[in-house]
Amino acid sequence: MSVVLRAKDIRVSFRKEQQSSLFGQERQQVLHDISLDLREGECLGIIGESGSGKSTLGRVLSGLLKPEGGRVYLEGSDIYEKRSAKSKAALQHRMALVFQDYTSSVNPRFRVENIIGESLRIYRKAGGDCSHVRQRTYELLDQVGLPASFITRYPHELSGGQLQRVCIARALAVCPRIILLDEAISSLDASTQVQIMDLLSTVQKSLGLSYIFITHDLTSITYLCNRVLFFQHGRIVEQVDQISQLSSLQTAYAKHLLHSIMGLGVSDSEQEQADLLVSESEISSLALVNDARKGADSPQAGAVMAFSSKPSVVG
Ligand SMILES: Nc1ncnc2c1ncn2[C@@H]1O[C@H](COP(=O)(O)OP(=O)(O)OP(=O)(O)O)[C@@H](O)[C@H]1O
Ligand SMILES: [Mg+2]
Repeated sequence: MSVVLRAKDIRVSFRKEQQSSLFGQERQQVLHDISLDLREGECLGIIGESGSGKSTLGRVLSGLLKPEGGRVYLEGSDIYEKRSAKSKAALQHRMALVFQDYTSSVNPRFRVENIIGESLRIYRKAGGDCSHVRQRTYELLDQVGLPASFITRYPHELSGGQLQRVCIARALAVCPRIILLDEAISSLDASTQVQIMDLLSTVQKSLGLSYIFITHDLTSITYLCNRVLFFQHGRIVEQVDQISQLSSLQTAYAKHLLHSIMGLGVSDSEQEQADLLVSESEISSLALVNDARKGADSPQAGAVMAFSSKPSVVG
């Protein structure tokens, strides 16, 4: 599988806010030499506790924050290299973003038609082919499972899940190769989360997209992702190349995250923890949902079947 996005030795620090001197130069290192590859057609999960630097990395990967050190290559092109505005726009539309806060990421005065239309205009400006805006908007609404009649609705006339579908349609409008989803389902209720993950999965397959899925919820990673990077204090502390192999986690941090979704206490003894994992045979409603939807032979289904015991995740 070819690499669509490569990050090499990314370093970011921010000026510390609370310093004794007004002109203090102390900095907080937020990302420490992060390198990663995103392969064509895969969903790469990035998980870590709050403040570990996930969104900062997302901003760097999507061209919104130039790192102090390191490079980001999108389909082989360095995204921070100086280039013409048109070539920059063409490069930028290859990656689209979907955020957690869908209400503030859309203009409340815009109808669905304008929210998606804005994105279509950006696409056209960057040289994309889109002559029939309304027709394309209908297609996009259909792709995200919304009726054509929603085109005239305002954001406040939509549920959270419906509005997030509009945000996904807006992301698809630029015909991206990659979508970066930063906590994109975290604000939704449990059953809507599953519906949106199903939608993302279907769209990914039909369009051959690659996803970067940032979250602090390991359960959703097991549902959607092929690989996962565990993030702590701005460093990748563990990487799992096959989601079905979560049982062989090495670091205490990653194990802790796994145990917390299983509702297991954190034991002092590593052996006790391992015993708990092995004896975990209860199959949760999430596992059943996963199994039914994905088919028992999918690696993700296997992972959740084996590990999840917390039905509340999907309600
Ligand atoms: N523009 C900024 N200026 C100063 N500090 C920043 C800035 N952006 C992020 N930070 C700091 O960088 C650290 C990492 O923040 P980031 O938003 O990347 O974390 P996160 O892993 O996405 O957290 P969460 O799960 O809560 O979204 C935090 O300590 C944050 O305060
Ligand atoms: Mg964040």
